[in-house]
Amino acid sequence: MYDVVIIGGGPGGYAAALYAHNFDLSVALVEKERVGGTCLLRGCIPAKSWLKTAEVFATVQKAAEFGVHASDASIDWAAALERKNTIVDGLVKGLSGLLRGRNVDVMDGFGRLADGGVEVSGADGNVRQIGARNVILATGSEPRAIPGYEFDGDRIVSSRDALDWRVRPQRVAIIGAGAIGCEFASFLGDAGSEVHLFEMLDQVVPGAEPEAAKALARELKKKGVKVRTGVTVGPAELRNGHVVVPFEGDYVEVDKVLVAVGRAPVTEGVGLETTKAEVERGFVHVNRQTMLTAEPHIYAVGDIVAGTPQLAHAGFAEGIAAITHIATGETAPVDYRAIPLVVYTHPEMASVGLTEAAARQAGYEIEVHDHGMRGVGRAIIQGEVGGLVKLVSEVDGPILGATVVGPAAGELIHELMYSVAWEALPDEAAAFIHAHPTISEAIGETLLTAAGRSLH
Ligand code: NAI
Repeated sequence: MYDVVIIGGGPGGYAAALYAHNFDLSVALVEKERVGGTCLLRGCIPAKSWLKTAEVFATVQKAAEFGVHASDASIDWAAALERKNTIVDGLVKGLSGLLRGRNVDVMDGFGRLADGGVEVSGADGNVRQIGARNVILATGSEPRAIPGYEFDGDRIVSSRDALDWRVRPQRVAIIGAGAIGCEFASFLGDAGSEVHLFEMLDQVVPGAEPEAAKALARELKKKGVKVRTGVTVGPAELRNGHVVVPFEGDYVEVDKVLVAVGRAPVTEGVGLETTKAEVERGFVHVNRQTMLTAEPHIYAVGDIVAGTPQLAHAGFAEGIAAITHIATGETAPVDYRAIPLVVYTHPEMASVGLTEAAARQAGYEIEVHDHGMRGVGRAIIQGEVGGLVKLVSEVDGPILGATVVGPAAGELIHELMYSVAWEALPDEAAAFIHAHPTISEAIGETLLTAAGRSLH
């Protein structure tokens, strides 16, 4: 009998498994593939490896701007793919070692809730029962398809297959300009493909600050990406080995279509129907204080949780919250207000807390301040001035949210994460000195302006 059996070895599940050692809990982790989940095997990590390759290529191509001659640059696609695979394999190996070191029993197979624990069906047909005092479901998500664009693994694919393309596609249509669509548009645009990005809503990364989305779209267009927002595509047609994507009386012909319209929870077949857990369109409702479902010993974390962000780091935090409750009976709820969101395009876009629209909708009386990168010395030196910082704060009150577009925005946002989480007043945050010359100065300037005493 284990204290905890976790079904699913992605970020939510493996974080729970690793964290349990702090409380000497006995843990089994059931996983049907390698450990790591979407994030490590076919999501965050491989995508960022491709983005890095494309960024290096793009930098070399504009080397002359920096007074450096570097002619005949090209991407060795096979070598870049191998680098990606080596990075993934290394991290999987490291994670497996870490789990072993923490005495987590990793069990190969498909896990299903059963009376008194979990039933594990191995690939070899063997079925075994494991006793569990508590179960954490962390079964993750998979790409959603749309009618007229059924995945065929070749011409019409999800991000899963696109991360393993063996050659660079010449012409690509991307349906959906969320995080995945924009990251692929950035990487393929930098890599030299003809990219058509289609978004049904009126801006890329809907939900982001409009100014930031506009800046990002502008940067994507500079890479040659054809960005079309507010556009609905008709069903794809296969023609002479190519795909025709119709839209608004027009069409584009491409070699590959990447569908990136969101991810659906993977909860079918895990036995939830035999429990009191509330499931809605595959998403599992939990008590956000504890991560418990309506069953007193069944928890859910990660991408399957209803109403919380589908982000690896949210999964980590939810796994930790579940283990804390199991081990101590205390609650350590995830602070969803201050979870950073990073889109790893080149340049990056990152945000935390409320956008201007969301803050108004929540009834706050707010102030908004922004600062472009154009006058920031370090941004000019790096040749990346297309970004901005936008800050939302309550009138005479704390910082509620912020967005950064620019070099390393995904790193810089963490400064503002503290401001949002600790409800800092602009005046308090502006009192600290940002090093010069840095990109962070753009944040310092915005804080100063928000505090009512701008400098530059
Ligand atoms: P998403 O929900 O972020 O974006 C999907 C986009 O597709 C939306 O903009 C939506 O309006 C659009 N769309 C939907 N149907 C459409 C249609 N028929 N035609 C045109 N556009 C359509 O989903 P995405 O990008 O697939 O990512 C899935 C999940 O994974 C998200 O929760 C995302 O936050 C997460 N993720 C996060 C990353 C990050 O934080 N860097 C990277 C990759 C994924």
